[in-house]
Amino acid sequence: MRTFVTGAAGFIGSTLVDRLLADGHQVIGLDNLSTGCAENLRSACLQYGPVGLFKFIRGDVLAPELANIVAANSPDAVFHLAAQADLQASVADPQRDARINVIGTINILEACRRSDVRKFIYAASGGSRYGAPQVLPVTEANPVAPLSPYAVAKVAGELYAGAYAEMYGLKPVSLGLANVYGPRQNPLGEAGVIAIFCHALVNKLETTIYGDGASTRDYVFVDDVVDAFVRAATTDREITGLFNVGTGIQTTVNEVHQLTTEATDGASPPRYAAARSGEVRAIALDNSRCREEFGWQPAVSLSEGIARTIAWLRSNLCDQPSALQAL
Ligand SMILES: NC(=O)c1ccc[n+]([C@@H]2O[C@H](COP(=O)([O-])OP(=O)(O)OC[C@H]3O[C@@H](n4cnc5c(N)ncnc54)[C@H](O)[C@@H]3O)[C@@H](O)[C@H]2O)c1
Repeated sequence: MRTFVTGAAGFIGSTLVDRLLADGHQVIGLDNLSTGCAENLRSACLQYGPVGLFKFIRGDVLAPELANIVAANSPDAVFHLAAQADLQASVADPQRDARINVIGTINILEACRRSDVRKFIYAASGGSRYGAPQVLPVTEANPVAPLSPYAVAKVAGELYAGAYAEMYGLKPVSLGLANVYGPRQNPLGEAGVIAIFCHALVNKLETTIYGDGASTRDYVFVDDVVDAFVRAATTDREITGLFNVGTGIQTTVNEVHQLTTEATDGASPPRYAAARSGEVRAIALDNSRCREEFGWQPAVSLSEGIARTIAWLRSNLCDQPSALQAL
């Protein structure tokens, strides 16, 4: 399969690139490197670049020439992960968030239409699209109730993909991701509490919990998420619409702090600060639809995923300050 991955240098995008290449697919990765990191694509470039299976394009999903770039590569499947992915940044600058996440998504959908791409897999936000549901884990049938500009923009991307399905026969799949964590997540950003805690604890730095730490999230390991993307693109079934990608399990921030503290042999208690706006109080995603339609289920437990994240942080960041700066 010829694949085109936007956001290819990011946390999830680069993990998807590696998986697609390992499975024997051809990959064209596009990224403007705004939050993504070229280092994430090092092994893809070195191992698969010379044999013509991987090509990186430094480019923007907002660029007018995007349609020509997609057309020149005639992919069978487009995975759209490029985004402004930081909820708090969307609160600070909702216009910028909407430009990248809404207009950028329209631009790639237009490019797909013009190149007659049949498979479009979109990284939706299952963790933010439902707001504060009454019943957890929440199914895809639950009403949409976004509480932040980021959540609104990500839902808009889903809706545009749905409209393109109606108008042009595209078969878009939106994967509503829960809270993804694992190697390559930026531990210095505002989002990604597991990476942030692990990095701080490994380096004996202070950790901060916003609010009382009782709010819950559904933490899903990045390799499991990438497996859902691959299954959605390669299934023989004619699937379209929204699929929750989560574990269905709620874990509090306090529990995450305890687990990461134990796994790093850390000892420092967290500092508590005021809760941040736009964040949901509790979420967990029912993944039955994914399981039934393309046989996906999470395989990596939270403790195993935390151990793998810490191992990656120790070998990639702690000994190499230059790699940290490049993030
Ligand atoms: N991490 C999560 O928990 C989570 C949860 C739900 C949904 N998602 C979605 O998954 C996708 C990937 O998220 P991530 O966590 O890997 O974030 P990330 O920031 O690591 O990856 C996003 C990538 O998009 C690139 N990018 C940003 N703007 C761009 C533009 N205008 N043109 C081209 N490239 C651009 C960045 O450089 C980065 O490499 C995003 O669409 C995000 O909304 C993530």
